[in-house]
Amino acid sequence: MTGITVTALQEGLRFGARINGVTREKLADPAVRKQINDVFEAKGVIVFENVEPSSEMQVLISNVFGPLKDHPVKSVERVDQNKMPGVITIRTSPDAGIVEIDGKQLMTWQPWHFDHAYNNELNRAGVLRAETIAAEGGLTGFADGIQIYNDMDPKIRAKIEGKELLYNLDLRYTKQRFGLPKTFREIVGKGEELAAYAATLPNSVHPAVWTRKSGEKVLHMTPYGCRGIEGMELSEAYELATEAWDEVERVIEPYYHQWKPTDMLVWDNWRILHMACGCDPNMDRIMHRTTIKGDYGLGRWQTAPDEAPANVDAMTM
Ligand SMILES: [Fe+2]
Repeated sequence: MTGITVTALQEGLRFGARINGVTREKLADPAVRKQINDVFEAKGVIVFENVEPSSEMQVLISNVFGPLKDHPVKSVERVDQNKMPGVITIRTSPDAGIVEIDGKQLMTWQPWHFDHAYNNELNRAGVLRAETIAAEGGLTGFADGIQIYNDMDPKIRAKIEGKELLYNLDLRYTKQRFGLPKTFREIVGKGEELAAYAATLPNSVHPAVWTRKSGEKVLHMTPYGCRGIEGMELSEAYELATEAWDEVERVIEPYYHQWKPTDMLVWDNWRILHMACGCDPNMDRIMHRTTIKGDYGLGRWQTAPDEAPANVDAMTM
């Protein structure tokens, strides 16, 4: 007995777990660390409930899954660069852009994606904590690439399996060719500065489906920053990507997390897609985020970059 309790994330969901009873002392126990990692591998998302709400605890929990990756962009806000170089702050601000969905304006909304798609390497995981919770909205969505793969129409799945998608750091919605809600409108744009940098980078290449060591296949694609399919002409590529993504949206069984101050949440970036529901632009919302190093080894650059690109975390959650 390790003294922590593991329960389902949500009734009927095929991924995710909740863990209670995690303390600084328990995290020092190798048996507890192993149990948490085993749950992570099996379930893809863990919500740690009733934990000490501090950046120190966020780093301790993050380190269970691997070493932290510092954020390469020096201008990104840190919680405490000296003590905790990997903990960044994400807040609602005019720079985050504003979108409108179903007639409602939202700040920090983001579509379904995995992090660092625009890079050749994919970080292992992210850990989030809510510092200031929006009075309304501000939920974060998670969905399982294994569930999506298993539930897709095999005919459509066969068309996308074996294909490699191209991605770029230019994440402007005006460039996104599929996967935006029907009622989506951009009110205040974002990412112009990032787009100028992105224009200097080659596309990354990632398989639409990959197989875990444990044998399960994972549908792993995102419309966010997608720039086509390797070896296909653009219009044909977007037609296929759109067909596949529409099928993803038909079968997806998401979980939406409503934050509490004492929650921390980790997700497997090689398996789980996530999205940010956004909140009213006038509301304060501050998240703290760490990134766990790693790579699944299946991504590459389409053409060699002139120099190693900064591993930009353009994500807001
Ligand atoms: Fe993200």
